[in-house]
Amino acid sequence: MSKTAITAAPIMPVLANRWSPRSYDATYEINQHELLSVLEAARWAPSANNLQPWRFSVAKRGTELFNKMVPGLNGFNAAWSPTASAYIAVSVVKNNPDGSPSATAHYDAGLAVSQLTIQAHELGLHVHTMGGINHVALAETLDLPEELQLLVVLTIGKVAPAEQLEGPAYEREIAPRTRLDLDEIVLVGKP
Ligand SMILES: Cc1cc2nc3c(=O)[nH]c(=O)nc-3n(C[C@H](O)[C@H](O)[C@H](O)COP(=O)(O)O)c2cc1C
Repeated sequence: MSKTAITAAPIMPVLANRWSPRSYDATYEINQHELLSVLEAARWAPSANNLQPWRFSVAKRGTELFNKMVPGLNGFNAAWSPTASAYIAVSVVKNNPDGSPSATAHYDAGLAVSQLTIQAHELGLHVHTMGGINHVALAETLDLPEELQLLVVLTIGKVAPAEQLEGPAYEREIAPRTRLDLDEIVLVGKP
């Protein structure tokens, strides 16, 4: 299924074609090359003072950790996401090296996830970010140290036909992708 963005100006095909599926191929096993490639793409994101505050916890489908993570997702996400090939939990180091709270760690991590997501698409995979998670329960499941804050869990895998979903997940899968107009997000110096 194509979910190519209708853009007001040409953008790179990988950006226009990327989208966030909920229907994944439950038989597809992600390989080490693919995982290393997407994590390496994240690694090379820019960050404030090059502190690289992002941390990733990877759980492949079929592992004990993957199964333990499912109840830590909200009900909607727990229903559609277990067919993904892996979960990647994204955390950040909360404080700067001098102990002050980081003002940019979330932003840095967003950039890293963006690169990871685009690299996945380039490999023929898809990524879907989930913010609908129980942060406390999952931090415990992942045994995250106190200095980290869990932000989101990503799904990664191969897209499957939308028809394997039902209800709201199916409706969202086949809905057109929309965005605010450029006019609404560019405040000054409009093109
Ligand atoms: C921080 C963040 C949290 C999100 N949380 C969820 C979520 O919990 N469940 C879900 O199904 N989608 C979630 N999404 C996916 C968005 O709904 C999706 O990216 C948006 O609708 C645009 O669709 P597209 O990525 O296909 O263009 C999240 C995306 C982001 C960036």
